Amino acid sequence: MDKIQQLIPSDVDTELIFFVNGKKVIEPNPEPEWTLLWYLRKKLQLTGTKYGCGEGGCGACTVMVSYYLKREQRIKHVAVNACLTPVCAMHGVAVTTVEGIGSTEEKLHPVQERIAKAHGSQCGFCTPGIVMSMYTLLRNKSKIEYADIETALQGNLCRCTGYRPIIEGFKTFVDAWSGNDRKSQDTCIMGKDCCRLKNEGNKNDETLFTKSEFQPLSPTQEPIFPPELILNQSYRESYVLYKGENIVWIRPKTLDELLLLKSKFEDSKIVVGNTEIGVEMKFKKKLYPLLLSPSLIKEMNTLNVTDVGVRIGAAVSLTDLLIFLDKQVEDDYERGKAFLEIKNMLHWFAGSQVRNVASLAGNIITASPISDLNPILMACSATLIVFSAKRGERQVTVDENFFKSYRRVSLDYDEVVVAIDIPYTAKRQFFKAYKQARRRDDDISIVTAAFNIKFEKDSNIVNDANLSYGGMAPTTICAKRTSKLLKGCTWNESTLRLVLKSLTDELQLDTSAPGGMADYRKSLSLSLFFKFYLHVMQEVGINGYKIHEHELSGSSELPIIVPNSSQCFEIKNNNRHICDSVGKPITHMSALKQATGEAIYCDDVPIIEGELFLSLVLSTEPYANIKSIDPSKALEVPGVKAFLSASDLPDDCNKMGPIIKDEEIFSRDVVTSRACVIGAIIATTESIARKAKDLVIVTYEKLHPLIVTIEDAIEHKSFFAGYPRTRVKGDVNDAFSKAHHISEGCIRSGAQEHFYLETISAYAIRKEDELEIISTSQNPAEIAQIAAEALHIPRHKVVAKVKRIGGGFGGKETRATTLALPVAVAAYKLKKPVRAVLDRDEDMQITGYRHPCLIKYKVAYDNDGKISGAIFHIYSNAGYSMDISCSMMERAIVHVDNCYFIPNIEVNGYVCKTNLPSNTAFRGFGAPQAMLAAEIMMRNIAEVVGKQYEDVASINLYQEGNLTHYNQTLTYCTLQRCWNECIESSNYWQRKKEVEEFNKCNRWKKKGISIVPTKYGISFQVDVLMQAGALLLVYNDGSVLLSIGGIEMGQGLFTKMIQVASRALEVDVSKIHISEMATDKVPNSSPTAASISSDIYGMAVINACDTLKKRLKPYKDSKPDGSWEDWVLAAYLDRVCLSATGFYAAPKIEYNAKTNSGNLFEYFTYGVACSEVIIDCLTGDHIVLGTDIVMDVGESLNPAIDIGQIEGAFMQGYGYYTIEEMLFSPTGEVLSRGPGTYKIPGFSDIPKQFNVSLLKGAPNPRAVYSSKAVGEPPLFLASSVFFAIKEAIKSARSDAGVSSEFVMDAPATCSRIRMACEDIITNEVKPTITKNGKPWNIIV
Ligand SMILES: Cc1cc2nc3c(=O)[nH]c(=O)nc-3n(C[C@H](O)[C@H](O)[C@H](O)COP(=O)(O)OP(=O)(O)OC[C@H]3O[C@@H](n4cnc5c(N)ncnc54)[C@H](O)[C@@H]3O)c2cc1C
Ligand code: FES
Ligand code: FES
Repeated sequence: MDKIQQLIPSDVDTELIFFVNGKKVIEPNPEPEWTLLWYLRKKLQLTGTKYGCGEGGCGACTVMVSYYLKREQRIKHVAVNACLTPVCAMHGVAVTTVEGIGSTEEKLHPVQERIAKAHGSQCGFCTPGIVMSMYTLLRNKSKIEYADIETALQGNLCRCTGYRPIIEGFKTFVDAWSGNDRKSQDTCIMGKDCCRLKNEGNKNDETLFTKSEFQPLSPTQEPIFPPELILNQSYRESYVLYKGENIVWIRPKTLDELLLLKSKFEDSKIVVGNTEIGVEMKFKKKLYPLLLSPSLIKEMNTLNVTDVGVRIGAAVSLTDLLIFLDKQVEDDYERGKAFLEIKNMLHWFAGSQVRNVASLAGNIITASPISDLNPILMACSATLIVFSAKRGERQVTVDENFFKSYRRVSLDYDEVVVAIDIPYTAKRQFFKAYKQARRRDDDISIVTAAFNIKFEKDSNIVNDANLSYGGMAPTTICAKRTSKLLKGCTWNESTLRLVLKSLTDELQLDTSAPGGMADYRKSLSLSLFFKFYLHVMQEVGINGYKIHEHELSGSSELPIIVPNSSQCFEIKNNNRHICDSVGKPITHMSALKQATGEAIYCDDVPIIEGELFLSLVLSTEPYANIKSIDPSKALEVPGVKAFLSASDLPDDCNKMGPIIKDEEIFSRDVVTSRACVIGAIIATTESIARKAKDLVIVTYEKLHPLIVTIEDAIEHKSFFAGYPRTRVKGDVNDAFSKAHHISEGCIRSGAQEHFYLETISAYAIRKEDELEIISTSQNPAEIAQIAAEALHIPRHKVVAKVKRIGGGFGGKETRATTLALPVAVAAYKLKKPVRAVLDRDEDMQITGYRHPCLIKYKVAYDNDGKISGAIFHIYSNAGYSMDISCSMMERAIVHVDNCYFIPNIEVNGYVCKTNLPSNTAFRGFGAPQAMLAAEIMMRNIAEVVGKQYEDVASINLYQEGNLTHYNQTLTYCTLQRCWNECIESSNYWQRKKEVEEFNKCNRWKKKGISIVPTKYGISFQVDVLMQAGALLLVYNDGSVLLSIGGIEMGQGLFTKMIQVASRALEVDVSKIHISEMATDKVPNSSPTAASISSDIYGMAVINACDTLKKRLKPYKDSKPDGSWEDWVLAAYLDRVCLSATGFYAAPKIEYNAKTNSGNLFEYFTYGVACSEVIIDCLTGDHIVLGTDIVMDVGESLNPAIDIGQIEGAFMQGYGYYTIEEMLFSPTGEVLSRGPGTYKIPGFSDIPKQFNVSLLKGAPNPRAVYSSKAVGEPPLFLASSVFFAIKEAIKSARSDAGVSSEFVMDAPATCSRIRMACEDIITNEVKPTITKNGKPWNIIV
C-alpha cells in the first residue's frame, strides 16, 4: 500500500459519491469487492433489484446508470447488470432502481403499470429487471420500434410467463401499435373465421387487457438528473483511490499515470466493464489486488476515423462501438465490410446490459477461445496500439502469434491496450462473420468464424484469404493451411471441395475437447464456410456465375419476424352477483408490487442487527467415505461464528427425505454425490462465510463403482428398492402374437434445470424456544416438520412461512430443505437469526433436475396403424436419493399412453440410483418424458404403415368412455374436440401443403409442421395429500384476510383464491387479502404441486366462506339493502365469531394398484398444439414460426392467469425439448452451472405467431366452479416443436438421399439438428478422434 501511496497525487478522492434514485449517497469506505447489487440490496436496503445469477446472464439485477457527458452536454442513460458493476465505478453517476421510477403508493410508471396489467408478471422475480431495461430504452429513445424492445430485453430472462404478455404489454409503447390498436394482440390466422368473431351467446371478443386504460408515457415526468452531477464535474474527473481489505481501486486521470501504476504492480488489472473480471472473482475465486479503471483516459475512450480505417479506444463500450460502426457502414459500405460484420456480431454479443459496459479490449485480452470478436479481428488483421511506461508505443497485429495459449496473449504485464485499429475493406473483398450458439440471443458461441477473401482484379481468382475461427481450439485460430491453399484458386465448386477437405484435416477436435460436441463443431467449421461460399457466389457477379435458387437458402439467415399473438377465451355471462370476479381476467394480485420492487421475497426480509449468514460445505467427491473433516482454518477467520456438521446432530435427528428418509442433513460417513452437504459455516457476513467454507478441509476415500448414467445403473442393477415396478392390462403376449406389425424403438430425454429466477434461500429466527423459518419452499409444512424433528422440539414451536417465491416449478417442492434445514438448525443452536442464499452455481449443482429418462417400447399394430398392444420400459435417473422419484415414476407409468387407447399393455418402471444430485419434481413430473415416448411410437407406426401420423393418431385417440391402462373410464373427454379445433384453427392441412412447397424449393432451409395432443391426469395420486385447509378472518371494518395452505409462486393461486372467495362471500376482491402462507394459520398442508392447488384450496375457501356467510345471514336478511360492512359490523356488535376455517378432503382415490382398478385421477386436462418451424440445415439453428394451442381448462377461474400458465408451460417445455441441455462430466460433475452455460428460452425464442385458445363449453363438474387444473398439462404440447423439427430434418435427409428414419434424443439442440441433417459435410467430419477415451461430457 505504501508503494501505491508514493505513486498517487495528493488530491485524490477516497470517498465514493453517487446518487441513487435522486438521493446522494456518500460512502466513506468503499470496498472494491462490493458489487452495486450488493450495495443496493444490503447497504441501502433497496431490495427491488434482484439477484438471479451474479454473472450477468439473467438481467434480474438491471438498473439504469446515468451520467453527464460534458463535451456533448447531454445525459446518457445505460442499463447495466448491477451484479457485475463494481460499486467503486459509480463515483459521480446517478443510479436509478425500480423503486426510483414509481410505486403503488404514489404513482406507477407506465412501464410498471403495463407489464403488470398486461399480465407480464407471474412470480415477479424477473419483473424489476425487465422494467428497468424497458425504462432505460424509453429514457433514451422517444420513438421506439419493436426491434428496439427485443434488443433492450436480450439480456433479461423470465422463466414463468413465456414472454408473450410482456411483449404485448410493451408493444403498446411502439408508435405503430397505436394505429393498429388492439389488432396485434388478436391477429388470428383464421381471419374472419376466428372464434372471437363467432358469437355463441357469450362474450367472445374479450382481450386480456385494455390499452386505453393505461396512463400515457410522459417523458417530462421522469425524475430529474441530479443537478449536482452537472454542476460539480469533479466527481467525474477526479483521481480516485479506494482501499479495500484485499483490493485497491484506482481511477487515474492520464495515460501516463495508468502506465506507471501498471508498470510498478505486476498483478494489477485494468478493469473496464468488469464483465470478465467480475465473473472470475465471483466464480473462479480470483483475487486481483489492484484494479485500475481507465474510464478517464481520453485516448482509451475515443472513436476515430483514420486514413486506413477506424481507431477504437480500448475502453469504449461495445454499444458505443456498435453505434459508431453503424454510421461508418452507412457512410461507405464498400470500405466498411469488416465494420458491418462487427456491428452485426455485436447484436448477438451478450445482452444490452453487458454491451453497455464491456469493452473491445476486454474481449481481446480475455482471449477466450469462443470470443465472438477475436476471429473477426484476426480475419481483418486488426492492430492493437499498445503502450507501456518503459517502452512506449508498439503495434501488435491480432494474429495467431498474438493468442499464445488458452486465455493468454502476448502482452507484457506492464502493457496496456490503448486502441484497436480496424482496416477498411476493398472493392473485390468479401468479408463475413458467423456465430452459432445454443440460443440465438445472449449466448456465447459454440463456433464463430470470420472469412476474409480478396479477389484479383476483375476475376474470381482468390488473391488473399484469411479464414479465422473461434471454438475450434484453445485459442482463436486462423486456418492457415487452408487460407494459403485458397490463394490462386478460382471460386467454384472444386475449390469448395478442396477447402472442405483441407478444413477437415486442419481443424482437429477430439471428444475430450472442452465444450464437447466435437463432431458438430467440426461440421460447423465446414458448414459456415459453405455458407460463405454461397454468399460470395451470389455476390461475385462475374463470368456469369450463378447458383441454383434451391441452394441459395444456404447463405441466408433465418428470418427475423415480429412476434404476434392471439388469445381466444370467453367470459361466461353467469356472474352470480356484482362482486363476482370468477372467470374474469383480473391482474395477478401482486403484479403491481412486483413491478415496483415492493414485493418481498425471502432474501428481501429486512436485515436484523446481529444476523448471521450461512454457507454450505459441499462434497467434492461423487462417492466416497468421509475420512476427516477439519474446519479449524475456517474457524480462525475473523467473523466466523461456527461450523455445523453431522457431529452436531444425533443420528436420528440428521435424517430427511419426503417419502423415505434416505438423506442426511449433514453427511456423516459417506457421500454419495457432489450434492451432499457436509457442513455449514456460519459467519457475520456472506462474504466471510463463503470464503471460510472453502477453508474447511475434508479428506475422502473414494468408493466404487461410481454410477452416473442409466446404463451404469442397469449394468450394476442399481435400482431403488421395489423397482422395477410393473403395470399390466390385458394380454400383451396375445396382442403381439396376432399383430400385423411389431416395431421397437427408444427415446432419451435429458435433465432439465428448473432455473427459477430466485435461487433457493432461507432465513430463520429463534424467538425464545420457538423457531420461525422463512424459505423458498413449495412445501413449508415439510420444512417445519423436519426442522422440529432435527431439533427434537414439538411442531407447534416451529412456524414456517412463505410470502411468495420467485418461481418453483417443482424444484422447490422438496429440495429447498437442503438449505432450509441447516439454516434452521444454525438459528436454533446459535440463537441468532441466520440467512442463506444459494448462489446460482450452487443451486444448479445440488438441487436436482427433471429426471433424465430412457424409454424403450415395443408395439403391436395392424395395417391401419391401430394399436393392439405395447410394452414399455421406463428408466429414470433419480440421483443419489429417492426424494419423490417414486411418484415421478408412477406418473410416467400412467402417462406413457399419452392420448392413445392401448388395449393390452405392460409398463415397467426402473428408478435408477446413481451418484448424481437427487432429481426431483419438475412441472409435468415424469409425464413429459413418458408422453414423448408415446408420440415417438405413433410416428414410428405411421412410418411403417405408410400413413400420415395424423391419421394413425386419430384412429388411436381416446374417446369418451374408453378405459385407460389403469382402468379409469374417461368421462367428459374433450380430446377429439381439442384435436379438431386445433386442426381447424391452425389451418393445419393448408399449412402442411405450404411447408411441403417451401421444402421443395429450398435445400438448406427446411420447414416442418406437427400436431401433438396431451391428456394429463389431475390428482396427487396419494389420498393423504388430497386435503386442504383455509382460514378466513373478517375484521369489523369489513376487510377479509384469507389464509390457505398453498403458496404463491407466480401461478396466481392467491389471486384465484381471492376470486373464489369474492364469489362465495359476495364481496369485492379489493376487500380480500392473502398475506402469506404460514403453518400457524393452516396446519399440515400438502406441497403446492401437481397442478391441484386451485382445486383443493378453492373448495376449502368455499367451505370457510359458507360457514361465515351462514353466520352473517341473519344480519343480511334483516337489512337486505345494507352493505357487507354493515352486516359484518352488526354481527360483530352481536358478538358473532368472524373467523372460520375451511377444509376440503377430495373423494378417496379408488385406485388399487394391486388389481389395477378404480379411478386414479379426479379428471383429466386435455389440449392439442400445432407448431411450425424453420431450421437451418447447415447450422442446426431453428425458429418457431407459429404455435396454435387449444386447451380445455373447463370454465376458467381467470383466463389471464390460465393463458399465462399455458404460455409459460409451453415455453418451459419448448426449452426442455429443444435448447436446454444439462451437461455432466464422465464422473457426474455438473458442467452447466449458470445462465452462461445453460440456456433457457429468451424473448426472441417465442413462436412468432402464438395463438392460444381456451376450449369453450366444457365445464368440469369435478373441480371448483367448473374449472380445471392448468399448471402442468400444457408443457408437453411444446413437443410439437420437437416433432416439427423432426419433420424438417426428414425433408433435409430426403434431399440428401439418406433414410427418413433416424433417432434424435431430446432436447433437439442445434447440434443434434445439424448432425441429423446428414449431408456431405457431416459425413466428411466423422468420426472424431477420441483421445484418452474420455469424452468431455456424457449423456446421463
Ligand atoms: C453475460 C455475459 C455474456 C457474454 N457474452 C459474450 C459473447 O456473446 N461473446 C463474447 O465474445 N464474449 C461474451 N462475454 C465475455 C465478456 O463480456 C467480453 O469478453 C467483454 O468484452 C469483456 O470486456 P470488459 O470490458 O467487461 O472486460 P473486463 O472484465 O473489464 O476485463 C477483461 C480482461 O481484459 C483486460 N483488459 C481490459 N482492458 C484492457 C486494456 N485496455 N489493456 C489491457 N488489458 C485490458 C482486463 O485486465 C481483464 O483481464 C460475456 C460475458 C458475460 C458476463
Ligand atoms: S443477477 Fe445480474 S444478471 Fe443475473
Ligand atoms: S415472472 Fe418472470 S421469472 Fe417469474
